[in-house]
Amino acid sequence: MSISCDMLVFGGTGDLTLHKLLPALYHLHRDGRLHSDVRILALARKKLDRAGYLALAERHCRAQVARSDFSVDTWQAFAQRLDYFAMDASQRGEFVRLAHHLGSGDRRVRVYYLATAPDLFEPIASHLESAGLAGENARIVLEKPIGHSLESAQAINAAIGAVFAESRIYRIDHYLGKETVQNLMALRFANALFEPIWRAGHIDHVQITVAETLGVENRGGYYDHAGAMRDMLQNHLLQLLCLVAMEAPVRFDAESVRNEKVKVLQALKPITGMDVLDKTVRGQYGAGQIGGHDVPAYYFEPSIDNDSDTETFVAVQAEIDNWRWAGVPFYLRTGKRMARKRSEIIITFKPVPHLLFKKGEANRLVIRLQPEECIGLQLMAKAPGKGMQLEPVELDLNLAHAFSSSRRWDAYERLLLDVIEGDSTLFMRRDEVEAAWQWVDPILRGWQGHYRKPRPYPAGSDGPEQAHQFIERQGRGWSY
Ligand code: BG6
Repeated sequence: MSISCDMLVFGGTGDLTLHKLLPALYHLHRDGRLHSDVRILALARKKLDRAGYLALAERHCRAQVARSDFSVDTWQAFAQRLDYFAMDASQRGEFVRLAHHLGSGDRRVRVYYLATAPDLFEPIASHLESAGLAGENARIVLEKPIGHSLESAQAINAAIGAVFAESRIYRIDHYLGKETVQNLMALRFANALFEPIWRAGHIDHVQITVAETLGVENRGGYYDHAGAMRDMLQNHLLQLLCLVAMEAPVRFDAESVRNEKVKVLQALKPITGMDVLDKTVRGQYGAGQIGGHDVPAYYFEPSIDNDSDTETFVAVQAEIDNWRWAGVPFYLRTGKRMARKRSEIIITFKPVPHLLFKKGEANRLVIRLQPEECIGLQLMAKAPGKGMQLEPVELDLNLAHAFSSSRRWDAYERLLLDVIEGDSTLFMRRDEVEAAWQWVDPILRGWQGHYRKPRPYPAGSDGPEQAHQFIERQGRGWSY
């Protein structure tokens, strides 16, 4: 399906647009997936003319797109779709100018992508409405985090909901656009093998880790107010948890999938009072080395308060109070400036009931999102030679090799195309976002009360020592 539309990107000169959205749209154009009449209008305050913006956009696209994918001819054809409009999105009057610039064309699908700070979400929606730009064919895309607490998320959702029907609101979580994340659903619901053992009786625990080597880069102003809990755990990690834990939806459509995810979020056991101390660890990176280079401590990064208490690492033990998962801990962990970039979900099964051989290790299913996309099943096997020497071996499915003839799509390519085509299956519904905040809020409050200072860890390490102690106390260990 290919639909013509206007895509208006607020925050058009920001990192997200230049590093992710434009390269994704370039790829979609190159692969012939955009209708010839899709027009892209970047909006920002910077006083630039179209030529100035195209030069900026081209520079970033060249840097982001693989060399073999970039060609001047393709760029020039793509650039025909691209325009720039300088405006201050906080000012109502500016939207009259914008409406004039867009002209009539009410019947065209219009996608407003808000790649801006969340405090601009409400004013932009209300200004779009008052300028007559929020008609039936308009859709709005919101970047996470939606708010910084349950209350602020509810306020944003209410304000956006007053202008756009829920079916026209796309709350993006780019993790849902990642191929391996969607493969997790395929693995669970297109194979009969795992479902019978996908439950408390057979699973010992689940680990979800998203470790990054990056620091806060030039996003200090935003990050210092967010921290790892709001930036990563409240959205990306909880979405992964939902996909691991949800029941099979009756259909693969937006409402059925999201109904099942929200049930998981609602079943998360609240972490309150002293449990905040026992079931969470927050850390902040100090100076250290990444890839052999010295990197500064978090509090010396640009735009960060020198005595900031913001966490750059968080580990949480979550529990899901329902029949399938009662008693199975879900250990969630994410951090910046860790030893390696690695995102993975590990399902550890229960050990065999009776040990016949000298060595026994529990089976593990590893779903790796990054750096490579693969699914591995760790089994015990006999090593060659005399006697029964057992060793763990991995059945390894490398998805990039299995589908080597197709280019791997970036998450944003898939999600942008879904918005254009009006498919919200991989976007978060209002109640999902609010249920996630409902669980996160008491932890954030607990930290404010009696757990202010994050634990230090050196950049380039595996996080604070306490994060290891916390899981070892329960007789388990992180996968690395
Ligand atoms: C973003 C966070 O949502 O995800 C960033 O705001 C983080 O802080 C990024 O670096 C990680 O995404 P990915 O796709 O590189 O794992």
